[in-house]
Amino acid sequence: MANLTTGLMRTHKCGDLRKSNVGHDVSLCGWVNKYRDLGGLHFIDLRDKSGLVQLSFESWLENGGSVDVFKSTSHETVIKVFGSVRARPESAINKDMLTGEIELSVTDIQILSEANRHELPFLPNAKNQATEDLRLKYRYLDLRTKRLQSMLSIRSKAYQRARDFLHNNEFVEVETPILYKSTPEGARDYIVPSRVNPGKVYALPQSPQTLKQLLMVGGTDRYFQITKCFRDEDLRIDRQPEFTQIDIEASFCEQDFVRELSRGLMESIFEGEKVSFKKMTFEEAMNTYGSDKPDTRFGLEHHNFSEIFKESEFGLFKSISSDGGLVKGLFLPDSLAQMARKDLDGLTKVVEPYGGKGVAFFKVDGDKISGGISKFITPEHLNVLNERQPEPKGIWLFSADKAHSTTHACLDAVRRHLRDKYSLAEDRFDFLWIDEFPLFDYDEQENRLAAMHHPFSMPSSSALDKFMSGSLEEVKDLTADCYDVVCNGYEIASGSIRIHDPKVQARMFELLGFSEEETQRQFGFFIEALNYGTPPHGGIAFGMDRLMMLLAKTENIRDVVAFPKTTSASDLMADAPSVPALEQLNELNLSWLKD
Ligand code: AMO
Repeated sequence: MANLTTGLMRTHKCGDLRKSNVGHDVSLCGWVNKYRDLGGLHFIDLRDKSGLVQLSFESWLENGGSVDVFKSTSHETVIKVFGSVRARPESAINKDMLTGEIELSVTDIQILSEANRHELPFLPNAKNQATEDLRLKYRYLDLRTKRLQSMLSIRSKAYQRARDFLHNNEFVEVETPILYKSTPEGARDYIVPSRVNPGKVYALPQSPQTLKQLLMVGGTDRYFQITKCFRDEDLRIDRQPEFTQIDIEASFCEQDFVRELSRGLMESIFEGEKVSFKKMTFEEAMNTYGSDKPDTRFGLEHHNFSEIFKESEFGLFKSISSDGGLVKGLFLPDSLAQMARKDLDGLTKVVEPYGGKGVAFFKVDGDKISGGISKFITPEHLNVLNERQPEPKGIWLFSADKAHSTTHACLDAVRRHLRDKYSLAEDRFDFLWIDEFPLFDYDEQENRLAAMHHPFSMPSSSALDKFMSGSLEEVKDLTADCYDVVCNGYEIASGSIRIHDPKVQARMFELLGFSEEETQRQFGFFIEALNYGTPPHGGIAFGMDRLMMLLAKTENIRDVVAFPKTTSASDLMADAPSVPALEQLNELNLSWLKD
């Protein structure tokens, strides 16, 4: 690396000084982390990004320096100091500090920028943390913490490794427009009114999906981009309204190519990890874990017991399973955790958000069963259950509902709850490649299909004939050449082999309920492009923010974003979104509706 020393205001960084520097004259710049007056002995802990160093002012005061300077050196004031590095006396060595064996004996001090001590909203490095809202409002203060600075570094290095890997594999980084047209990914669009085209709007891309496919039509062969995507959707702990994808597309490839590429990319990003992808179909994931993004670092697999409870004295399970519903159970071995009565009662709260009303249970100890629904459990039931039981002692937990999706979601929630409560997940990265996704989400009430991934994914090759000519009833359960990468319970990437035949693409929009005019208006340009010679192609997009959450071992997506938004999509620091100025509205030919 070039040694950039020209034009610097400092000779060293605070955290870099060591015993080997003793006797050196240095200049340092940084923030006042702490000031102490120990009966006339004055000390400042000076902080910059690299760490802390102690400044002592003895010789400065002896040589005519005034204590008045300390009136201006309150917490977070930015100063520059000159001085000489000296060894601390044995009794003053601080083993908890990397620079704890030395201190800087200051000979001159300049105040570069005074921090208003009365108005400082919080001290970034104080033991008692300010609330998250306050830290978000003053994000630049929170960014002064080592924790957030290390998050930025982790992210920056990961970008570099991803770029290196993709460049080395002949991918070309291409920027695509942000002012564009709706790109459906299942969320609402953010729209931007155009001044020069009155009455018209751009949509910010939910992803560069159509653009990367057009790059393939354009002969780019292998594309990638680290890009922002914008989605107006309900936010969760792992979602931001604008987030970053490593977006990838390649021509003349099949799913195996994308999988191997993804594995290599993960190995570069998770430096030092030997990455292997376990493979699982969507159906297996739902049956075994009730989720298409299972955390596979621990067991507690789900089992389907609908059949055995069709004959049961337990009315609820009997009616649900006889009615075509789903009864599933999981076994928590005693060796992992023992649940107290109140923990069992607490499970109702865990399943409520997913439409569950409660969690049935009974305890097993060898041949003995007790508690909960044990009185309804027959020896025949036990024969079947025992086969799925890894240990003789533990507890069976059940979820049941007429809607299979509710049963899956509730028992998945129970499984994740047990993981967190009893720390069941091992500390490792468990990557999973999930494929054979359904092509559609079927809305029973409205008898309508929606694309499960997006409308550009290819039906599985075995499903293509049915797709082209089948009735809605016949196509609703078809599978797609779609895949996801999951790690530790997060969906970190999604992709598919794309439709490259304009007739198949037009059929897709027809099945999704688009009229011909609508298809033409929204996607006419795209379908037209497919008519002019389109290479078969496929790709994937990784959610960079979620990858960073895993790398940085945090469960809060805001930790890995420099200037994040809250769950109500607001930027508390800049107060965005905000009311537009009247002139702006006039220029855009818009008027503001007030209630
Ligand atoms: P998808 O919509 O699944 O696919 O997005 C790809 C990945 O992006 C991440 N992600 C998000 N991260 C943070 N906040 C959000 N709101 C958010 N939404 C999605 C997830 C997800 O797996 N164009 C397709 C990809 C393709 O087919 O190539 C797409 O965008 O980690």
